Amino acid sequence: MYSIELYRKEFLTYLGQKSIDKEPSRLYEPINYILRLGGKRLRPVLTLMTTELFGTDYKKAMDAALAIEVFHNFSLIHDDIMDDAPLRRGQKTVHEKWDLNTGILSGDAMLILAYQFFENYPSEIFRALAMLFSKTALEVCEGQQYDMDFETRDDVTVPEYLHMIEYKTAVLVAAAMKMGGIIAGASLKDQNLIYDFGKNLGIAFQLQDDYLDAFGDPESFGKQVGGDIIENKKTILYLSALQLGNAGEQKEILDLYSIQPQDVSDKVNSVKGIFLSTGAAKHTKSEIQNYTQKAFEVLDVIDMSEEKKAVLKQFGENLMMRKV
Ligand code: IPE
Ligand code: IPE
Ligand code: MG
Ligand code: MG
Ligand code: MG
Repeated sequence: MYSIELYRKEFLTYLGQKSIDKEPSRLYEPINYILRLGGKRLRPVLTLMTTELFGTDYKKAMDAALAIEVFHNFSLIHDDIMDDAPLRRGQKTVHEKWDLNTGILSGDAMLILAYQFFENYPSEIFRALAMLFSKTALEVCEGQQYDMDFETRDDVTVPEYLHMIEYKTAVLVAAAMKMGGIIAGASLKDQNLIYDFGKNLGIAFQLQDDYLDAFGDPESFGKQVGGDIIENKKTILYLSALQLGNAGEQKEILDLYSIQPQDVSDKVNSVKGIFLSTGAAKHTKSEIQNYTQKAFEVLDVIDMSEEKKAVLKQFGENLMMRKV
């Protein structure tokens, strides 16, 4: 019961059956490529797990889990275009393997496919799922636009940053869990509480994504280490370095984020040095813990057995230890 490995395995089997063998292959091949590239499958696992935690067979949530994962992978194709990223899950990004137009259109098709998976639910549930999904997908777009806007700003505040990551990342994790609640017919109160749990966990998740982007192991991380630094992303590391650094460190990081040298590895190394010397790296780690703790506090008020709460806590603890 409640085995993450089982949910992942079952989900992968289901996904395997959904491979699209249709023309034009230039539209569908990249979709199959990105969906089979691996990944942690965090969001679909959460949908299946939440459904079962609320007392319903997780198999009923397969299509919603698939919709969420297809949407997530769509957002990655477009995100990699926007972030000029060469690598995803240790392989070429879609726009690098094919080209920009292919990435745009295959991504668009995935967004539509995601919606189609909800059509397999009875009308009441379909409506609730589709409404949550539309709201969430629009928020993800808003978060992504703020992320882009911040690249060229040097006055981004921590509250602005937190709003940005809540939208680009956390609301999808939250919605993945709420969908489990909807399918299981949980009370609205519990649906909203599990959403809040997912939101705080999602914020912790993005803080850690920022941390790993700079300090992950290039051998295993699967993405270009230092990509955020190259793109002048206003991450938690950057904002903390500006807050915690002395005048010299502040000036140095502002300077480094205003240039784009030929040899980017110098810039990446210098910035990482400042993230460490200012204590920004350490501060980021403690914020990851804080938001995970906030998620756990939501569990205190949710109507669920202690045994089930322990499953969710274990999931959160495991996420904090991730290296990819
Ligand atoms: C990457 O998501 C994008 C973020 C929101 C940080 P994941 O880290 O879940 O990516 P995969 O699916 O496991 O590759
Ligand atoms: C991704 O944020 C958020 C979405 C894909 C919506 P990032 O740009 O930090 O994700 P990675 O690091 O490329 O996976
Ligand atoms: Mg990116
Ligand atoms: Mg991005
Ligand atoms: Mg990132």
